[in-house]
Amino acid sequence: MERMLSGIKPTGRLHLGNYIGAIRNFVSYQDEYEMFIFIANEHAITVPIEAKELRQNTKDLIALYIACGLDPKKVTLFLQSDVVAHAQLGWVMTCLSYMGEMQRMTQYKDKTAKGETGVTAGLFTYPCLMAADILLYDPKYVPVGIDQKQHVELTRNLAERFNNRYSDTFTVPQPLVTKVGAKVYSLQNPTKKMSKSEENPKGTIDLLDDPAAARKKIMSAVTDSLGVIRYDQENQPGLANLLTIQSALTGEEIDSIVARYEGKGYGELKKEVGQTVFDFLTDLQAKYRHVIESGMIDEVLKEGAQKASYIANKKIAKVYRKIGFTVTK
Ligand code: AMP
Ligand code: TRP
Repeated sequence: MERMLSGIKPTGRLHLGNYIGAIRNFVSYQDEYEMFIFIANEHAITVPIEAKELRQNTKDLIALYIACGLDPKKVTLFLQSDVVAHAQLGWVMTCLSYMGEMQRMTQYKDKTAKGETGVTAGLFTYPCLMAADILLYDPKYVPVGIDQKQHVELTRNLAERFNNRYSDTFTVPQPLVTKVGAKVYSLQNPTKKMSKSEENPKGTIDLLDDPAAARKKIMSAVTDSLGVIRYDQENQPGLANLLTIQSALTGEEIDSIVARYEGKGYGELKKEVGQTVFDFLTDLQAKYRHVIESGMIDEVLKEGAQKASYIANKKIAKVYRKIGFTVTK
């Protein structure tokens, strides 16, 4: 089985866009690949975050991933900070990369361009830590959102640089960017991505939203005044978004949904999508509560950390030997 790895930052709450664009794919990959999924808590502190919030986000994230269908028996699920080799290799990667490379990274560039103050040195160098996260495990593929592709490209460069400078040590990984069409937009501003940072809560459906409130958000989603139900991303983005959500959650093709709605109004479609979202959240949250109440998270994390550490420790030992840290036999 080919190996695949991805990390998720425990900042903010997960929303429907995360499920449809990312989590759903992880679940479908778990049977075909040897998967490693970790909670990137060392990345979460690149911006200020309260300990209480970080702890809660982390637990919610794990419980939600399991509730969404990730099976801890198939996937190695672990906390980044439980495996010390991430920080160790992170430093080696920081010293392998150049200031110029870091300055070209868009997240840092965007923040500084906006004149944001309080940008930490950690935020500047975090792509090096991300490279370490990946290279410790020699995955062939790294599924990420388009915004993270640049970091996987950097990881490839650093892997090649290390391999050339010392000797073959790391697998050069490939980014696997989520397919187009799986993007979910804000319900209130359908040309903008549904996101954690959206100011208007009516635009985003959180996976832990009250299902009835979520249904209301669908009912009040912004559409258009054309009055015809068809999939037209350009001219009817709000409608296209509702069709995407319905299709993603039920598996029915968009064409088939459109055909069923010939001659019908937006209100009826919204009712159906609202019900689909209601049912989806109700079921998901029941599973989420079960995971929390079962107390299984501790065990999952303990086992995950053991499996991940076994691989990561071997890799860091190899790196330490090659760079001259190890002086005994
Ligand atoms: P983020 O919430 O930006 O940390 O993203 C976590 C994962 O969810 C990434 O793989 C993103 O590509 C995916 N994702 C985030 N927002 C959306 C969205 N609105 N539609 C589809 N995928 C998304
Ligand atoms: N930087 C990623 C994000 O902000 C999270 C992440 C950290 C990650 N390490 C990773 C993703 C390694 C893939 C592989 O979403």
